[in-house]
Amino acid sequence: MSIREEANPGFYDADSTIYDQQRWVSRSGVFTNETQQAIVAKMTADWGGEGLEIGPGTARFTVPLLRKGLKMTVCDISSGMLDVARRNIEGAGFGKHVKAYREGSIYELPFEDEEFSHSICLNVFNHLEDPGQALSEMARVIKSGSTLLFNYANLCSWYFPAAMRINSRGSAVGQEVYSTWERPGVMERHIRKAGLDLVTRTGHVHVPRELEKFKLLPVVKVLDRLSRRGPLSSLAAVHFCLCRKR
Ligand SMILES: C[S@@+](CC[C@H](N)C(=O)[O-])C[C@H]1O[C@@H](n2cnc3c(N)ncnc32)[C@H](O)[C@@H]1O
Repeated sequence: MSIREEANPGFYDADSTIYDQQRWVSRSGVFTNETQQAIVAKMTADWGGEGLEIGPGTARFTVPLLRKGLKMTVCDISSGMLDVARRNIEGAGFGKHVKAYREGSIYELPFEDEEFSHSICLNVFNHLEDPGQALSEMARVIKSGSTLLFNYANLCSWYFPAAMRINSRGSAVGQEVYSTWERPGVMERHIRKAGLDLVTRTGHVHVPRELEKFKLLPVVKVLDRLSRRGPLSSLAAVHFCLCRKR
């Protein structure tokens, strides 16, 4: 973990108890959560076996994967988030389907090579200074021929001015957590270097929390639809990438 990322575990420990309430309850938040859930459900439709989720947060994506029948291991850098994830998973009745809750970083995953069928990491790469190393680790722990899913914030998107501001500050607006938006071309190089092929890329446009007061939801919904696939997907604020290990 780099010096700039050192505050991240503490930030998420403090954030863990208010994370869902702050993000997914407003009208914009409900839209973002529902849209992301639908994208992930579609991109993981054929997944089974043993899965690893890195940075599960409160387990909002872990629970649907467990419901599909995957056996999951979760790994997060924040012990506070792991406590909340465990509570939510047990509350949903899937406690016995989780193999392990591990505290650890994506840069050095505490798992064997090829231990899992799939790995997934969502809304975490926007906190990482070294996305190449993170992708290599995600690829290392899955079997050859298997798929992994991750997403990143796209610097070259509709939100370019705000993204440039975040990158120059190195933190999200109003939050003491390292944040960064990535260039798609650079991410494609990281994917290839990690021994992965990009199977499919899906675009998504969310309402950033700091813009919620501007009532942008109707416009964002249109942009989101337009950005799912095709040429406009290169302008989406978030890219979900399904990759296969060679
Ligand atoms: C924005 S939250 C996303 C949580 C969940 N994936 C979601 O989309 O709701 C980021 C999560 O990544 C974790 N995280 C941040 N840096 C990490 C790292 N280097 N390794 C593992 N987890 C990390 C945080 O503790 C937090 O749980």
